Amino acid sequence: MRTKSILLAGNWKMNHGPADTAKFLEAIEVKEKPNAKMRLYVPYLSLQAALESVENRLLPIEIGAQNVHFEKSGAFTGEISAPMLKEVGITQALIGHSERRQYFNETNDTVLKRTVFALSQGMEVLLCIGETLAERQANRTEAVLEEQLVQILAQPDCLSAFGTKLHIAYEPVWAIGTGVVATPEQAEAAHAFIRGLLAKKLPSDQVNATRILYGGSVSPSNFAELLKCPNIDGGLVGGASLKLDSWTQLWGLL
Ligand code: 13P
Repeated sequence: MRTKSILLAGNWKMNHGPADTAKFLEAIEVKEKPNAKMRLYVPYLSLQAALESVENRLLPIEIGAQNVHFEKSGAFTGEISAPMLKEVGITQALIGHSERRQYFNETNDTVLKRTVFALSQGMEVLLCIGETLAERQANRTEAVLEEQLVQILAQPDCLSAFGTKLHIAYEPVWAIGTGVVATPEQAEAAHAFIRGLLAKKLPSDQVNATRILYGGSVSPSNFAELLKCPNIDGGLVGGASLKLDSWTQLWGLL
């Protein structure tokens, strides 16, 4: 049996500027849990406000960025680099979220580049993958997940980071923001498949230590069932992470 180390991660997307962020984190009450961590991926502009509140109140919450570029610096208008994030104290980043892929032309190639560079800078990466509804309906879920991971699983620096600096979020695109959550059976099947892909390349201790989070319409009413699945190590939560009551209810389920 794997011992799970649970991560409850919120992805605020383009919500909560610095003032709202401070308000949220000044009001939140979080009891520490022995085998679970809380993390919030907030907009770039809110990172410092979030860190300040967390530090002032000694909150057990990690703060991360929602993306990070693949170069140190240069002519990349609108982008933010790993050294810049580290300069303000951020070492966690999401990479490859489906909204980045869908609306901002993020591809498996750029996801790989961002991941490799972030890891080289000592950052911890939560890599997002997941199929669209059309892909699921065409029975292509496993093929798509494999396509999204194949380059990562061929890259030595990524391979060695799994279980420590590199973890995965499975987010079926059809479940994101739709209120349609994957059933525990659907989610567990995908998670087990992903863990199986890792197992082809990595020793079992690393495979077991790699968190695979589920994301897509996670709410206080469905999270407990999902968490019972052996290969689900927590949640990456959008909508329900934005409000204090639903967010703290999710934490209360752990
Ligand atoms: P929702 O929880 O709003 O469906 O969003 C999921 C998500 O995209 C988290 O990254």
